[in-house]
Amino acid sequence: MDDKNMDDKNMNDNNMNDNCKIGIFDSGFGGLTIFKCIKELLPQYDYIYLGDNARTPYGIRSFETVYKFTTEGVDFLFKEGCRLIIIACNTSSARALRSIQQQWLTKHPHYLLFPHLRVLGVIRPTVENISKFTKTSEVALWATPGTVKSESFAIEIKHFAPEINLIQTPCPLLVPLVENGELYGDGVDYYINKYWQQTTTNQIENNIDTLLLGCTHYPLLLPSIKKILPSTVKVLTQGELCSESLKDYLRRHPEMENKLSKNSSVCFYTTDQCEYFDNLAQIFMGEKISSQIIQID
Ligand code: DGL
Repeated sequence: MDDKNMDDKNMNDNNMNDNCKIGIFDSGFGGLTIFKCIKELLPQYDYIYLGDNARTPYGIRSFETVYKFTTEGVDFLFKEGCRLIIIACNTSSARALRSIQQQWLTKHPHYLLFPHLRVLGVIRPTVENISKFTKTSEVALWATPGTVKSESFAIEIKHFAPEINLIQTPCPLLVPLVENGELYGDGVDYYINKYWQQTTTNQIENNIDTLLLGCTHYPLLLPSIKKILPSTVKVLTQGELCSESLKDYLRRHPEMENKLSKNSSVCFYTTDQCEYFDNLAQIFMGEKISSQIIQID
């Protein structure tokens, strides 16, 4: 069967079964920090998680590359029967989401059959809530160079919380540490110290009371980050905010919610070695993970 016929068959099968899943996409392990919270809050749905570990990190790559990799991941999840995709990667959300929503999605062959297909990101749900956490309105953002360069957080903050002064620091080495399972120790502490110094160096009066981890990989380093930062700084992660936002989205969109299958199943895919993915993912998810390897390019 050639690719086109296979696609048509998948579409028809999924159409007949109306067996719509929620897809979670990330460049690697980071999306698990979002998925863990989503699964805890909304355990009834069927999920497919895809980590593009073979091509991580995305955060140091060009707009074009991140767009290409992200659309390939989303396309795979559509073909697997996902109708709602959460891009659980800030870099992809920052660099690819808008183009996907405004151009790519409506031209996708599945969209003609399923006009309720949706792709959502993680930046807006975070920024919508940020004001609740800061008293000084001085908020630091740690993110990948790609996310910082896109100015996506700054643009959304200007819109939703214009009173906030956002101090952005690119942290290019934190993702490689996480992807290599280096979550604790002197090396990790060194880089956290270095990035915190960069964040605070040019502050005449350091009133930062909130550090937003604007990369889904960084919460895996949370114990190390909390150990080093002053206790007056609240470290904010995105998992709870994004899962609450998804719950609210599904409440407001019954046309989507009614189509989602509810068997509490989870399927993990990785584009690199399963054994490695399973070991690290298991530590984070707190349950046994058995992934399958796939190729998406
Ligand atoms: N987890 C991704 C994010 O939230 C970045 C990881 C990467 O650079 O690939 O930005």
